[in-house]
Amino acid sequence: MVTWHRIDSNEGFDAHWDLLALAVGYPDADAQGRLRVMYMKDPTCQLFAVRDGGVLVGVVGWRLKDAASGEILHISVVKERRGEGLGRTMILGLQRLAPEVGSWIAETDDDALGFYLALGFHSADLGEVYPGVLRYRCTLAVGRPYA
Ligand SMILES: CC(C)(COP(=O)(O)OP(=O)(O)OC[C@H]1O[C@@H](n2cnc3c(N)ncnc32)[C@H](O)[C@@H]1OP(=O)(O)O)[C@@H](O)C(=O)NCCC(=O)NCCS
Repeated sequence: MVTWHRIDSNEGFDAHWDLLALAVGYPDADAQGRLRVMYMKDPTCQLFAVRDGGVLVGVVGWRLKDAASGEILHISVVKERRGEGLGRTMILGLQRLAPEVGSWIAETDDDALGFYLALGFHSADLGEVYPGVLRYRCTLAVGRPYA
């Protein structure tokens, strides 16, 4: 059974950092500190650990942008459990968690673009945001036929 737990302490954040870091562009100590403050102090941001049968399988973080839209900030599934539908389950879980959100966005790169497209998101090219790295803004209006 898949269960969700809100990560709500600095210690909890650090305990999940290695997995979260897989979804962070430059996961150095500065990024760890900056994201710890963001998830622990900003009331619009939430980070969750997802377990299957009690075993950690993923982390997902999001923020409420405004009353009707949400942004997926980070999603990471442990390497040995990828391709089993857990990422999809986590995005659907966020939608259940925040039913007031009518549209979701996520910014991503070439590596994970196909994931969001497979889930029914539409993508817009943001260009080369970092040298040599193409980024995309993916959007999903809830209520659209879900892939
Ligand atoms: C991206 C990630 C979360 C996907 O998780 P996952 O559990 O493997 O995804 P799912 O098994 O739920 O896949 C759902 C669909 O997306 C597709 N998909 C998954 N990852 C993909 C990828 N990297 N490229 C293209 N398609 C992908 C799957 O084929 C599947 O499509 P289908 O239903 O048509 O068969 C996982 O690969 C990961 O943790 N990557 C490292 C961190 C990262 O890049 N995060 C995203 C940027 S913040």
